[in-house]
Amino acid sequence: MKIAMIGTGYVGLVTGTCFAEFGHHIICVDKLEDKITTLKQGKIPIYEPGLDVMVAKNAAEGRLQFTTDLAEAVPDADAVFIAVGTPTSRRGDGYADLTYIYAAAQELAEHLENYTVIVDKSTVPVGTARQVSRIIKETNPEADFDVASNPEFLREGAAIADFMRPDRVVIGVESERSEQVLREIYQPLYLRDTPIVSTSIETAELTKYAANAFLAVKISFINEIASICEAVGANVVDLAKGIGMDRRIGSKFLHPGPGYGGSCFPKDTLALMRLVQEYGESLRIIEAAVEVNAAQKARMVKKIRDALGGSEAGKTIAVLGLTFKPETDDMRDAPALTILPALLEKGASLRVHDPKGMEEAKNFLPNGVEYVDDAYTVCQGADAVVLMTEWNQYRALDLERLKASMKELIFIDLRNVYEPASLTGLGFKYVGVGRK
Ligand code: UDX
Repeated sequence: MKIAMIGTGYVGLVTGTCFAEFGHHIICVDKLEDKITTLKQGKIPIYEPGLDVMVAKNAAEGRLQFTTDLAEAVPDADAVFIAVGTPTSRRGDGYADLTYIYAAAQELAEHLENYTVIVDKSTVPVGTARQVSRIIKETNPEADFDVASNPEFLREGAAIADFMRPDRVVIGVESERSEQVLREIYQPLYLRDTPIVSTSIETAELTKYAANAFLAVKISFINEIASICEAVGANVVDLAKGIGMDRRIGSKFLHPGPGYGGSCFPKDTLALMRLVQEYGESLRIIEAAVEVNAAQKARMVKKIRDALGGSEAGKTIAVLGLTFKPETDDMRDAPALTILPALLEKGASLRVHDPKGMEEAKNFLPNGVEYVDDAYTVCQGADAVVLMTEWNQYRALDLERLKASMKELIFIDLRNVYEPASLTGLGFKYVGVGRK
């Protein structure tokens, strides 16, 4: 199959590259010339494990090309995927900004020649595919096409594995012909017994939001339960095991922490709430999850302050991890961006380390934060260590070495990575989330 992928952001690049790995011929299109030049040179603008090798391999084998010109990619394509960004609107109202989607629809329309399936890959509110269809018809009344929705469920840091071994593929279609094209594109997964869930376009669009909203609710649920555990002296890690082994509940996404972040959950929960309001409905559970997530970040500030004896003023805090999760350099909506400025404002000195996210973090964190290249150096002379993101390299720290270099022995583990006894046994004060 010949596929045009519009947008070489996270989703477009991973999806295009994995399709090429399936054996399809992909041309990725982006308006940003610098980005396309970089990609043509074999450099990857984001950090995603395994992506660089896969891009290089498929480009060398001629199945993956990059261009800024839609005319090179669209006319021959069996399917055109739209994978441009849908950030939260700058109006600050929580709506998804669909400007890039509609612009892509308009621009690609004039290049359509034979029957083509136009697939929304970006996360978009219900009704967007219909708008895309209308725009294409208006721009090119002769065009022979169908629209479809094919939401992605990729986790950053594990995107290639998620793509290659998904739990399911959801396709929202309005004709048998377009369904056939999409089934053929995903044929390699089908052969591996991946279920393909074929739905209406609106159902597929809403499925993506519902999936992310449910996961956000699950995280906020366990974060709230963690607070109750602290209040009554229970242990949330054991509790999560106790409920997670019930297959109706499931053990995933029951890890308490400093709150969810990233490019999806915060944006998509807001967009879903706005969408629902337009229909005169409300989603109170999701509103609560969003509120709990904001409160969780504030709670972490208090936790750190309390661990330091009631005030962070004049204290040096070493922070391990800045990104919203490990194995990414993405800082979008990372809890660190709320928690650290609050500490800084109250007079703390912050020294931070992150294996991949420091350059990106400099664009978001206020001045005055000291960036340190090494996980041990950052802890030297600190009054407390805050483990913010559970990067593998922080999972087995040499605690004796840490002890020897810190000023005060306070370890605040916002991801419950360590067994409390392994630190308290060395004389540290240990503070986790939802457990003594
Ligand atoms: C998410 C969805 O998982 C994916 O299906 C969708 O397509 C895009 O959004 P991603 O944003 O990459 O993927 O990260 P994810 O692994 O889902 O984690 C999101 C946030 O939740 C992170 O900040 C993470 O630390 C937090 N989280 C996750 C928890 O705090 N506890 C958990 O148990 C799981």
